[in-house]
Amino acid sequence: MFVELINLAIMISGRGSNMKAILESIKRGNVAGIGNVLVISNKQDALGLEIAENEYGVKTTTLLSNKNDKPFESRLINELKKDNIGPHNGLICLAGFMKILSPSFVELYKHRIMNVHPSLLPSFKGLHAQKQALLAGVKVTGCTVHFVDNGVDTGPIILQHPVRVYDNDDELSLSERILLKEHEIYIKAIKLFTQKQLLVVENRVIQI
Ligand code: GAR
Repeated sequence: MFVELINLAIMISGRGSNMKAILESIKRGNVAGIGNVLVISNKQDALGLEIAENEYGVKTTTLLSNKNDKPFESRLINELKKDNIGPHNGLICLAGFMKILSPSFVELYKHRIMNVHPSLLPSFKGLHAQKQALLAGVKVTGCTVHFVDNGVDTGPIILQHPVRVYDNDDELSLSERILLKEHEIYIKAIKLFTQKQLLVVENRVIQI
């Protein structure tokens, strides 16, 4: 039976631990149905670039952001095209990618761009979500993988995982525990996507 492969772009800005978890599970054969893989960074010194190239032999490209978003996104589309990561066969995973994508780009890849965020959305959007959780005094926080829409850390939620907040937690200890769960749910979400098990109905993601 012919099954069309999904070509994957992982977009990073920093250390790339989510990217590494995804690449590792593809390498181990735990995520089937992936064809080309490209890692894109908007920061030249992103640690994840070295990991992708040296540890996984994955192609990388750096697209520096500038004040004018138009050139960034047209360059991005060009790079995606080169690796055949298109709006009908591609998946774009934002993994600590700290730049907002334009509404036209999000529309072009509608329900094909995922993001991971270190809170149970819609709580604690934006930067330092773990610190926000500590400051709010919540007893449970967690992480979310969602499809990207035009907001910041908004869009149909695919998977979430709760994480207990302990009395002696600080930002680092809490972030570390959440990160382990981020890796787990991101890989699960990608599997569900490649197996065509995700259906978006209005703002909800239904597993079929
Ligand atoms: C992760 O905790 C991710 O959830 C967060 O950045 C970190 C990147 O770590 N993303 C956001 O806060 C998006 N709003 P990583 O580079 O090790 O994957």
